[in-house]
Amino acid sequence: LEERIQSYLKNLKEYGIKNDIPNVTEKVGRFLNLMIRIKEPRNILEIGCANGYSAIWMAEAVSKAKVGVRIHAIDHSKPTFEEAKKNLSEIGLDKFVKFYFGDAIDMIENMDSKQMFDFVFVDGEKKSYLDFWNVIQPHLTAHAVVVFDNMVAFPEKTKEFSETIKSVTGFDQILLPTDEDDGILLLIKN
Ligand SMILES: C[S@@+](CC[C@H](N)C(=O)[O-])C[C@H]1O[C@@H](n2cnc3c(N)ncnc32)[C@H](O)[C@@H]1O
Repeated sequence: LEERIQSYLKNLKEYGIKNDIPNVTEKVGRFLNLMIRIKEPRNILEIGCANGYSAIWMAEAVSKAKVGVRIHAIDHSKPTFEEAKKNLSEIGLDKFVKFYFGDAIDMIENMDSKQMFDFVFVDGEKKSYLDFWNVIQPHLTAHAVVVFDNMVAFPEKTKEFSETIKSVTGFDQILLPTDEDDGILLLIKN
């Protein structure tokens, strides 16, 4: 990563810690960045972009792609949503991101049925993971990659989803420990 982007991310992470913005950890950000460079997706969906920390990690990967790639980032909290737009623009990566303000469940349910995603990062309200999972289904391409953050840290909130996903068919999956007491769920559609 360019030094300029590394130091921007470092400062944004520190800002998030000070201001109680639950950004992904640096490790998860780096994981998303590398996954996108490996997978080379065309259409990325992020549920819960907050102030854009994870979106910057993803957009940096996208900026290296040889084809046009778009990150569709959704959030329903106005202040952080506005900050995300400002932050992505400040670092010069806003052209890779299309921001949507509103509830992700409503928004995805009402999305054009032809809008498909080959990479989805889910980091919205933990209690809604099962709802997010249900609404993204019709929009996943073959071999789509789906990543759910915080699959260990909030066992009560993610319980319903965790139990459902264990017996899902048509996907291969792995729960990866990331930082202390947390992990991500990585799924690949067959
Ligand atoms: C954990 S934070 C996201 C952090 C962000 N991915 C990052 O690493 O910078 C969760 C965000 O999801 C948003 N959110 C939660 N449920 C949502 C929903 N149903 N629709 C849209 N946004 C949602 C919240 O407003 C919050 O900003």
